[in-house]
Amino acid sequence: MDEATGVGDPGDGRSAAFVHDTVIPEQASPERGEDETPPDVAGTPGGQLHTGSADAATPDAVTGARAAEEAAGPVTNEAPRERPSIPPPPGAPFPRPERTRIFTIANQKGGVGKTTTAVNLAAALAAGGSRVLVIDTDPQGNASTALGIDHRAGVPSVYDVLVEDAPLAEVVHDCPDVPGLTCVPATIDLAGAEIELVSFVAREMRLQRAVRAYLETVAEAPDYILIDCPPSLGLLTINAFVAGHEVLIPIQCEYYALEGLSMLLRNIEMIQRHLNPDLRLSTILLTMYDARTRLSSQVVDEVRNHFPDQVLRATVPRSVRVSEAPSHGQTVISYDPASTGALAYCRAAAELATRPAPAVNERNAQ
Ligand SMILES: Nc1ncnc2c1ncn2[C@@H]1O[C@H](COP(=O)(O)OP(=O)(O)O)[C@@H](O)[C@H]1O
Ligand SMILES: [Mg+2]
Repeated sequence: MDEATGVGDPGDGRSAAFVHDTVIPEQASPERGEDETPPDVAGTPGGQLHTGSADAATPDAVTGARAAEEAAGPVTNEAPRERPSIPPPPGAPFPRPERTRIFTIANQKGGVGKTTTAVNLAAALAAGGSRVLVIDTDPQGNASTALGIDHRAGVPSVYDVLVEDAPLAEVVHDCPDVPGLTCVPATIDLAGAEIELVSFVAREMRLQRAVRAYLETVAEAPDYILIDCPPSLGLLTINAFVAGHEVLIPIQCEYYALEGLSMLLRNIEMIQRHLNPDLRLSTILLTMYDARTRLSSQVVDEVRNHFPDQVLRATVPRSVRVSEAPSHGQTVISYDPASTGALAYCRAAAELATRPAPAVNERNAQ
């Protein structure tokens, strides 16, 4: 798989590689809604609203509601709000899998869209009628934030499951905005878990054990479990790989996109050999696609050539709506269902739901 890292050879497209650090010439593109913005505007922390203009595809009612919201000033996670009604995505209701499909969303690089993909894909699947559980295994707790779940230190969380042997059912919270979506939050307590787990017997299997026990006892098993990983290949990520059936890798359509991918693939192979023979790299999602750059389409072509069976047809565009939704404690699916980002995640969810799950050895199956 070493050739997989060959994308972005400095000889071809070096100038495009730095396009996001420069002023991008404006050019209308059919694939690019007006909500897209360069990344220095996207992702401002702290619950502040952003400067992106309304999405071209957004109906007036939604735009009006958004204008009223913006006029009301910054929204914090604590602000009481009504549950928004989310329109069912195209293709809904999605077919239900025969058994719970467990996706480990991994990439040891930070900032490639793991968390964004976990929460938005989960919300899109839930909007399509599936029951979905997100397990946050990143001590930063970004997935928990985006799903509107309290994750202050001390809140019952995945830490209690991994380190204190708490049953998963005790730490599953309902997501306030999306019916059918639940979440096991991560708190900052988890930051110490990598070290605390070192002395445990079968320390790599703790999440798998907890998930299996949960699926055996819960009244209505989720159709999907999406595990959001931290940006590392440590014990937390290993636990996530061992608990999963399928790996979903988000790949950012950027210059260094595939750098480090061969290491990730080697780690997955190692997990398959020693700890979880059924684990399959089933899905790759291209994120932060920017139709204005040749580089983005080069990355897309390259990844599709290397992984023709894994890459989803849907590609997630760079979109300010996607990046600002978490500061409202929401996924983009509830925050702005008509935005280009929400529609892309809905398409990805529909694909995921209709692609067959890889065969699982019955002995290991859940
Ligand atoms: N499609 C997108 N458009 C715009 N910003 C995005 C998009 N996907 C992710 N982001 C932003 O990029 C940053 C990193 O994404 P995140 O999902 O947290 O990555 P990771 O979990 O891999 O570290 C976040 O600020 C997020 O809001
Ligand atoms: Mg993350």
